[in-house]
Amino acid sequence: MNIIIITALPQLLESPLSHSIMQRAQDKGLLNVTLINLREYGIGKHQQIDDYQFGGGAGMVMSCEPLARCIEELMATHQFDEIIYLTPDGLPYKQQTANTLSLQKNLLLICGHYKGIDERIREKYVTMEISIGDYVLSGGELAAAVLVDSIGRLLPGVLSDETSALFDSFQDQLLAPPVYTRPRDWQGMKVPDILLSGNDGAIDDWRYEQSLKRTKKRRPDILEDNEE
Ligand code: 6GU
Repeated sequence: MNIIIITALPQLLESPLSHSIMQRAQDKGLLNVTLINLREYGIGKHQQIDDYQFGGGAGMVMSCEPLARCIEELMATHQFDEIIYLTPDGLPYKQQTANTLSLQKNLLLICGHYKGIDERIREKYVTMEISIGDYVLSGGELAAAVLVDSIGRLLPGVLSDETSALFDSFQDQLLAPPVYTRPRDWQGMKVPDILLSGNDGAIDDWRYEQSLKRTKKRRPDILEDNEE
């Protein structure tokens, strides 16, 4: 899968994409992430990419021209399945969205800053708008990192069997059960006997019950979503 990210702050994305599972996905050639520095498409001596907003008010808006030139140049050589703008007023991001996006071949992500991007760029190019939660970030970069991570780890071959994404919280619409490792007794706190029983069927049942209990207590909204 190819993911191209347009950003005014590529440095913000470099580290999260170059470690652990994201690095492995790229080393294996399963994921290819390209950062495009929007500044290089800026206007004039100062390579300006933003301007005051019409109608007044605090905060700059990212201008049409640099974004359009950048997007057009990329579209000339790529057939994007989705052009995604990361914005707090987008659709709430869910595991289901990650699953669907992981089946695509070419994604273009656009990170906004300041007050966001000129509405006309959204109208003309953007096919999908995503928010990663009900809070405001200073820019779309951290949200883009969340998308790339959550999508990248779903690509076949990125995770090993034992870390398979199929067992994640949310993948079956339930939170994950509690997990334990050695020692069996830590400061008098013991690992549940069932996990030491060697009875795989009983362990699966226990994990399912724990997941259900945890989900009912912490996220009843997920269970309600399920019933619809
Ligand atoms: Cl995608 N961008 C910004 N700037 N803030 C956010 C967000 C995105 N999702 C939640 N808050």
